[in-house]
Amino acid sequence: MTVSKIFLLLSFFACTCKGSNVLVFFPVPSRSHSSLGNSIVNILLDAGHQVTCVTPFPLKTNHTRLTYTDISSVVQEATDSARINVAELSKPKGSHWVLPMGYNFASQALRHPAVQTLLKDTSKTFDVIIAEWLYSGLLAPLAAVYGCPLIWYASSDVSWQSLRMVHEASSPAYSVDAQSLRVPALPFTIGDKAHQLILQVYLSAWIYYFTNYVELPAYREIYADPLQLRGKTLPEYESLVYNASFLLINSHPPLGQNIPLPRNAKYIGGHHIGLTRKPLPKDMKKLLDDSKKGVIYFSLGSILQGRDLPEHMKRELIEFFGQLEQTVLWKLEEQLAGLPQNVHILDWAPQDSILEHPNTVLFISHGGLMSVTEATHHGVPIIGIPMFGDQFVCVELVTHRGCGIRVDFNNELPSKIREAVNEILGNQSYSINAKHASTMFRRRLVSPQKELLHWVELVADTRGAAFLRSPAVDISTMQRLNLDILLVIVLLVWFLSKVIKVIRAHLGDLSATKNSVKKNE
Ligand SMILES: *[C@@H]1O[C@H](CO)[C@@H](O)[C@H](O)[C@H]1NC(C)=O
Ligand SMILES: *[C@@H]1O[C@H](CO)[C@@H](O)[C@H](O)[C@H]1NC(C)=O
Ligand SMILES: *[C@@H]1O[C@H](CO)[C@@H](O)[C@H](O)[C@H]1NC(C)=O
Repeated sequence: MTVSKIFLLLSFFACTCKGSNVLVFFPVPSRSHSSLGNSIVNILLDAGHQVTCVTPFPLKTNHTRLTYTDISSVVQEATDSARINVAELSKPKGSHWVLPMGYNFASQALRHPAVQTLLKDTSKTFDVIIAEWLYSGLLAPLAAVYGCPLIWYASSDVSWQSLRMVHEASSPAYSVDAQSLRVPALPFTIGDKAHQLILQVYLSAWIYYFTNYVELPAYREIYADPLQLRGKTLPEYESLVYNASFLLINSHPPLGQNIPLPRNAKYIGGHHIGLTRKPLPKDMKKLLDDSKKGVIYFSLGSILQGRDLPEHMKRELIEFFGQLEQTVLWKLEEQLAGLPQNVHILDWAPQDSILEHPNTVLFISHGGLMSVTEATHHGVPIIGIPMFGDQFVCVELVTHRGCGIRVDFNNELPSKIREAVNEILGNQSYSINAKHASTMFRRRLVSPQKELLHWVELVADTRGAAFLRSPAVDISTMQRLNLDILLVIVLLVWFLSKVIKVIRAHLGDLSATKNSVKKNE
């Protein structure tokens, strides 16, 4: 063989082990969820992989190794139903509402004509699938269709519900449900533990119902044809749901509940930061640079818009902001009249770049995980106004760690914000703690992007990283808690006590007859 032939052969192998074919499936019709998906796509493309991305928010690009499956038509339906009613914010919904929501997102994406076409195209093959997990296992059978391993991506902190997909539910003795309104201080009291345990059992019953009576029929309907076209029969649904090879978690210890993870789950929180950072526009940069007394950035995220706030609240807030010596940047979709000099309304804000600026001293936020992640990355203290979903837990953890203050959304909001702003500006401990959290978050052996890539490639190249699979996922809760053994022991003790009773009774009879025999003598 000539040298050039060897070289050709080598480069052939170099190619085959590099470029994997990856399906990235992000069904949730929310811009922030899709921006996480787009970050993953970018990381994979930069590493030379082929990517097919199912998303409601495809970007304008003509990258040769990227194909989008556009499901943007699901967005309109979703935003109509998800429009937030401010009056309803303070009413708790109960923790099971996420199950139908997650199921609907997965189901409407899978039933989308563009996805059906993709599923029925038998020429398509993938080496690995990354699917967003949001309280539904309905995307898991994609792995059976393509005969490749599946990686779940959890866009929020690890919870007992996401962990049980690859391992076992985290213990209610030290972790709360992701939809909780409060996070008690550790260690939990017996009341806290009982509450969380009962909640897990109650929600597990809901999950059982959903899996068997909602998802199972949908699974048969959606996947029968794609599997049949590939000459496969429908496997048992549950055997697919709990067969993912890996769990990527968009969180990190300084952000979340710090739940211990199995080998096949990793924190990759922060992977989206910086990738799409837009430089500050010139005038905004000058404003921030010139604000030597500090900048307060106020944004309530994209779902609840500033114009949903009652008028009197806006007026009170503006009045208070006007008394501060800091510059206030308020992201709001409407202009307000009579603004004080130091208050600026922005209808578009490069949040990451504002938080990155050294003059930014405080972030007033709804406390969504992405906002909290960015604030933590840049070491900025937070006033969190949680409104729904996992925002309560996110903000509670920020306060437990001394990096911010929680303010509830009600009529007293302006006066509570006033107190909280004065407290944080007047007490250095918040910014010191936020800086420590930032160090914890940023100082890692490898960047979250590299870590994510490493595990995805490992799973693809080993066809499922079977060595990392947690043994806990294949046994029942009863076996895991050794309740089966306990049951055997209880039965044994019960049986022995019966035997002893019978023997005693016999001995009593014996001695009684002996005595009577003696008396008769
Ligand atoms: C598409 O490719 C052309 C040339 O390669 C490039 O100039 C253009 O910016 C690309 N368009 C987008 C939307 O990326
Ligand atoms: C579970 O996943 C592994 C790794 O991808 C795969 O080899 C196996 O066939 C899957 N099991 C089922 C029941 O699909
Ligand atoms: C600052 O806040 C921390 C945490 O709430 C508190 O322990 C400390 O006493 C405060 N310091 C001052 C000077 O108020």
